[in-house]
Amino acid sequence: MADETEKPEFWEKSFTEKQEMWGFNPAGSAVLTKDFFLTHEVENILIPGIGYGRNAQIFRDNGIAVTGIEISKTAIELARKHYGPEMTIYHGSVTNMPFDKTLYDGIFCYALIHLLDSNERAKLIRDCYNH
Ligand SMILES: C[S@@+](CC[C@H](N)C(=O)[O-])C[C@H]1O[C@@H](n2cnc3c(N)ncnc32)[C@H](O)[C@@H]1O
Repeated sequence: MADETEKPEFWEKSFTEKQEMWGFNPAGSAVLTKDFFLTHEVENILIPGIGYGRNAQIFRDNGIAVTGIEISKTAIELARKHYGPEMTIYHGSVTNMPFDKTLYDGIFCYALIHLLDSNERAKLIRDCYNH
């Protein structure tokens, strides 16, 4: 991916063509993190780069409220279709965080940071820390 302006198109094209391309099972990391969060009585989390929500549901099923950030409108529509309209998902780039002023109990971020350049990565980590 060459620059910031090309990224939304890349992900829009990917989700339009391939839809739920990683299936509906959560990543192993989401299963492990859910246990960790429950141990620490986490009640609400933020998921930057939430995709179509496959990693969100395991947290929600365990009583943890999830807010997402996602650059692809199509992925957000897929998340709404499969997991309902209640979850807040901000449409935009994590490079424009913060989208709200909430202090979340936890952050779960999976398969996103490697897509950013070094300045964007540093900003994402700072923004997550501030949340
Ligand atoms: C490799 S996918 C992982 C999706 C999800 N975390 C999962 O595991 O199912 C990366 C996700 O991040 C989103 N994304 C990529 N760059 C983004 C950005 N700058 N801001 C917000 N979301 C972004 C993509 O649209 C895609 O949904």
